[in-house]
Amino acid sequence: MGAAFPRARTHPSESTFLVNKKQSAVILGAQWGDEGKGKIVDVLSEKFDIVARYAGGHNAGHTVIIGGKKFVLQLIPCGVLRPGCKGVIGNGVVLDPLAFLNEVKKLKEAGLPAYRPEEGQLFVSNRAQVILPYHRMIELAAETAPGRQTIGTTRRGIGPAYEDKIHRNGLRVADLLNSSLLRTHINNACHEKNTIAHALFGTEPLDPHQMYEEYARFAEQVAPFVTDTAVLLNKAIDDGQNVMFEGAQGALLDIDHGTYPFVTSSSSTAGGAVTGTGVGPTRIGTVIGVTKAYVTRVGEGPFPTEISDASGDLLRARGQEYGAVTGRPRRCGWLDLPLLRYSNMINSTEWLVVTKMDVLDECDEIPVCTHYKIDGKLTDVIPADVRGFKSIHPVYTTLPGWKSSTAGITDFDKLPKAAQDYLHFIERETNARIGMISTGPDRAETMLVNGFDEALG
Ligand code: GDP
Ligand code: IMO
Ligand code: MG
Repeated sequence: MGAAFPRARTHPSESTFLVNKKQSAVILGAQWGDEGKGKIVDVLSEKFDIVARYAGGHNAGHTVIIGGKKFVLQLIPCGVLRPGCKGVIGNGVVLDPLAFLNEVKKLKEAGLPAYRPEEGQLFVSNRAQVILPYHRMIELAAETAPGRQTIGTTRRGIGPAYEDKIHRNGLRVADLLNSSLLRTHINNACHEKNTIAHALFGTEPLDPHQMYEEYARFAEQVAPFVTDTAVLLNKAIDDGQNVMFEGAQGALLDIDHGTYPFVTSSSSTAGGAVTGTGVGPTRIGTVIGVTKAYVTRVGEGPFPTEISDASGDLLRARGQEYGAVTGRPRRCGWLDLPLLRYSNMINSTEWLVVTKMDVLDECDEIPVCTHYKIDGKLTDVIPADVRGFKSIHPVYTTLPGWKSSTAGITDFDKLPKAAQDYLHFIERETNARIGMISTGPDRAETMLVNGFDEALG
């Protein structure tokens, strides 16, 4: 027999296929990213054997703070900060080998044994796409070219790498490890990309020889981590292990469902967990959406509840709303329930996690957008185009602030009454269950409510 694949399902009653619904969960951002997914994945990783990233690349910045010590992870799933929890970088991710190796190095230096390949703690899909320097070159040139629509990307070559994937022109991790294929690919791609970038943007050409030498070295270092992660994950589920699927970005940055074209280039929604890992939808137990108690967004694009007065500065200052990797100031706004309901719908979200409650502590009152008014009519419909967004008038309900510190509170009953009411209001308006509330950046500053703990087993 060749490679031992997990057995194919032949009959639903076969025990190997009865997936315990608590066994696997998708955790994703319900807004425009930076909702605090990293922190939540870290907290919940206690209950999981494996955490698998399914989309995006090092455009993500996931912050975890454990006992005051801060880690910012971009490609490596946050779960592996917990001893014994394995990390998988799935096929849906675009992998910049240098960014990956630097992240491994940084974590090794922090004393985390999980980052030694021989420990068998961290795995990279042989089917993940590779980001190469010409992806960054093209993106940088296109983003700064006169007359082009600026997206405000992270300039890490994410979009051009996904373009090549869909164009069937990409280099996969398996190809990176094949030196003759790597050389040919780099030669051909450099010829094409250099010509395009020079013709369109006057960009200086990249040297394919130097690129090959460099990437062949990276390939050697990446190789020990590489495996067929779809087989690994399906076997793990067969064996009764618990798998968490870690999303990057957020529902409104999804290439299909987000505020196109001001989106990222991958499927950050729950469906991406399926295509981005090779684990089928019937093996995914639940979907958990992470939302801030307000909203932020980095980069360009529509933002109906964006705050233009001093309250926005207050949220930015209290929430430390600056990009975890790029340092860019994040735009701040009030909670947008139509968008949250939309995110819950497209993701089949079962549970919500509300983060950053403490950031609202000083607000006298807290406006929440419950509906949109478009052309004088109340609606819950999310426009498909940017022009539609321009005609939205958000309709707000203003809730009282609590004007006292919630920082670090871990018992729901100890939250001020107005904070409890704020959370109940979100539940009522979104028809979702809140399972977890975060009152500070540290792992410890979290509470599990509504039977969420038991639901996850
Ligand atoms: P991610 O991309 O979704 O993982 O989120 P980021 O790490 O980019 O941004 C979230 C920021 O908020 C980080 O700096 C976290 O440390 C911080 N954070 C997470 N939860 C809380 C919270 O409940 N309160 C406060 N004050 N900060 C939080
Ligand atoms: P995490 O996982 C917030 C935004 C960029 C830009 C748009 C496209 O930390 O939540 P890209 O480089 O992906 O082509 O940029 O998407 N963006 C994010 N915003 N959090 C992220 O990730 C993001 N990843 C991309 O700012 O507007
Ligand atoms: Mg982030």
